[in-house]
Amino acid sequence: MAFSDTVRIPLPDDRSYEIHIGPGLLDDAASWAGLPKAAAAVIVTNDTVAPLYAERLRARLCAVYARVDVVTLPDGEQHKDWTSLNRICDHLLAQALDRKTVLFALGGGVIGDMTGFAAAIYMRGVPFVQVPTTLLAQVDSSVGGKTAINHPLGKNMIGAFYQPVRVIADLDTLDTLPDRELRAGLAEVIKYGPIADAGFLCWIEDNLEALLARDKVVLGYAIRRSCEIKADVVGQDEREQGLRAILNFGHTIGHAIEAGLGYGAWLHGEAVGCGMVLAADLSHRLGLMPAAFVERVRVLVQRAGLPVMPPKLGAERYLQLMRVDKKTESGALRFVLIEALGRAGLHAVPDAVVAETLAAHGAA
Ligand code: NAD
Ligand code: GLY
Repeated sequence: MAFSDTVRIPLPDDRSYEIHIGPGLLDDAASWAGLPKAAAAVIVTNDTVAPLYAERLRARLCAVYARVDVVTLPDGEQHKDWTSLNRICDHLLAQALDRKTVLFALGGGVIGDMTGFAAAIYMRGVPFVQVPTTLLAQVDSSVGGKTAINHPLGKNMIGAFYQPVRVIADLDTLDTLPDRELRAGLAEVIKYGPIADAGFLCWIEDNLEALLARDKVVLGYAIRRSCEIKADVVGQDEREQGLRAILNFGHTIGHAIEAGLGYGAWLHGEAVGCGMVLAADLSHRLGLMPAAFVERVRVLVQRAGLPVMPPKLGAERYLQLMRVDKKTESGALRFVLIEALGRAGLHAVPDAVVAETLAAHGAA
């Protein structure tokens, strides 16, 4: 039997909100009750997700809002850009929609990040709701209020912190998710173990096959535990003054892979999975973790069906790409490294050590 659950993100100034997690939520009136009142709602989605779920969501919202529009964007990480953002804003302005209009992000992290950014800037801010339909979005991107578009020179470089008013994660939407996307989502689930919860890492190792087989109870627990960990971190450090950086374990190298190959060549979760293997290796090289930990991360990432060897872009290119990372300070590269199982921190790493790790993994 699957379950439904709610996780709360604790934030000041009445900005706390709930993440509803469970099967059948698109059809569950209670999950949609009490949303901000407005004359209009706009569903932002893409041309893959729209035929699957937009009509059901529209029908659900028509019970609440007098007008419900759908903006359908082209699918793909390569479309997480100014053009797509403008298409959302163009629609809102062309239809003269007012500042109470509620945006609904229906899709994965790409749609969620762009819709959130549009909500942050349209008329200096309108409310938005995340309706994540990928595992990655349900465990990570829909939660915590990071919104952004990509720039050719760096991933997620143009954006804002802007929280949704609710997250509604319907487990049943994962039924249509391609296997490759499910595996990419598992990378972000795995991430939470080494950075925050050693017990959760063991649980993932024990339940990986059930996760890959889409067992709803097991998936539901993975999503809930991931959201609880993220809620705890975001509640303490909403704007990434320090602690929140740990959520970027594996992301410095991951973002470099994505930007270096061209957005969309590797999925975000694939790049993060591989990035975690290399970040584990850096943790070992800096004397923080034993070699067995690197192997443990590598085996788990590989079992999840994710790449463990980075593309051969050359050490210089990697270093150049990684310097655009938001964690870089005064040109010095900083990585989220594991200090003990379940504990992570931000560490400056000399270029030479990064080059050693890249070379050891065939990337240089
Ligand atoms: P995505 O949004 O590109 O979705 C993956 C693919 O699955 C797309 O082709 C999409 O159309 C399709 N899809 C979505 N739901 C589906 C469903 N239910 N059935 C069938 N197909 C479906 O990718 P993603 O992995 O969800 O998100 C990656 C993005 O999230 C990246 O841009 C990354 O930077 C961002 N991200 C943001 C945060 C954050 O905190 N804001 C955290 C992690 C990742
Ligand atoms: N995904 C990283 C963060 O939300 O901070």
